[in-house]
Amino acid sequence: MTDIHLPALSHLPNPAGAFDELNPAARLLMGPGPINADPRVLKAMSTQLLGQFDPQFRRMMRETMALYRAFFETQNDWTLVLDGTARAAIEMVMMSAVEPGDKVLVCSFGRFGQLLNEIAQRCGARIEVIQAEWGEVFDLAQIEATLKRFSPKLVTICQGDTSTTMLQPLEGLGELCHRYGAMLQVDATASCGGTPLPVDAWGIDAVTAGLQKCLAGPSGAAPITLSDAMAKSIYRRRHIEEGLRPAGYQPGLGQRIASNYMDIAMVMDYWSDAGLNHHTEATTMLYGARECARIFVQEGLPAVYARHAAASRAVVAGLQGMKLKLYGDVAHKMPNVTGVYVPDGVNGDKLRAALLNDFNIEIGTSFGPLHGKVWRVGAMGYNARPDAVLHTLAALETVLAAEGHAFTRGAGVDAAYGSYKAA
Ligand SMILES: Cc1ncc(COP(=O)(O)O)c(C=O)c1O
Repeated sequence: MTDIHLPALSHLPNPAGAFDELNPAARLLMGPGPINADPRVLKAMSTQLLGQFDPQFRRMMRETMALYRAFFETQNDWTLVLDGTARAAIEMVMMSAVEPGDKVLVCSFGRFGQLLNEIAQRCGARIEVIQAEWGEVFDLAQIEATLKRFSPKLVTICQGDTSTTMLQPLEGLGELCHRYGAMLQVDATASCGGTPLPVDAWGIDAVTAGLQKCLAGPSGAAPITLSDAMAKSIYRRRHIEEGLRPAGYQPGLGQRIASNYMDIAMVMDYWSDAGLNHHTEATTMLYGARECARIFVQEGLPAVYARHAAASRAVVAGLQGMKLKLYGDVAHKMPNVTGVYVPDGVNGDKLRAALLNDFNIEIGTSFGPLHGKVWRVGAMGYNARPDAVLHTLAALETVLAAEGHAFTRGAGVDAAYGSYKAA
């Protein structure tokens, strides 16, 4: 048998530090996410645990559903929080909705579109991929042409692809998919909470998200919403685990969902009034997810979106004031993250390290062809605030000047400050 080389794994030279209390340097996370959690979320997450079938906890689950219905602007009954990161939620929806051999149209405009493709492949789907250039988005006519020819069961697309910072307009896409007999799945991890996503008005059948971006929480819980049509198409395949089956139990139709953990039909039974046992709910994550949505709904969706739009304008003004060139089709960029080219003569990774080490501020680079060429500056959730944006831009000015980039010192921060004052 060929020898398998496991990946390198270093050990700490002095593991005694493992006994120290956690005390990391306080960072300001201004990259593409994760970002700093809202302190209210951290506080909610230190609430004492409850049993998952405690009536108090079941009530919190229902409250969380109601809060996320408001967040997603939907009446969908099946609006809940999955235990896992956003990627797990994408996989859970696809694994549950797609039977091997089903046709899936993947619309990809960045690295997370590629992830949708990879997940669809693992589900055994027959796939057609259409691609927009990185830095651009789709025209709906491009998608319609493939829908007409390929007749997929499911169309999958990101609302915001964090790798390119682009935001795909989705209005009309749900209706288009339905016209050709397809359902629409949207990965809104990067965008939802920073920009409108009225799920019912836009006819989206499945949306998956995460907490770690505009929702201002940690990663590890994934809010989702499923249209009735999507919920039925998944629940049609319902199976109940041996050991829980009632007398006279009949398994669902079609192929059993291949993963036990990722079986949304079983998760629906678990969240339903029947409360059939499945996984042990991640109580602390549910507390966090509930608080994230509560913060949003209390502030009000229009106010939250306006706050993100103001932060976006300020970041753009600031970066341009520093004579930096924005990446991609700026008219279609996500409000919560901005891509910007690393200027000639500047080492992108070295500058990010200086920001982190000298200012405790994190910004991102990007993936694949954009690594080292583009920085991504985020201003989202708890960090979509003037002080966070202005501090970041001020620090960026200092490290850019130290790297020899030519611009008028103070111009970036002044432009961002002016943009906030003009609002
Ligand atoms: C657009 C998009 N989709 C999916 C993911 C995966 O999310 P997670 O890391 O929570 O699994 C990310 C993470 O950054 C993302 O930006």
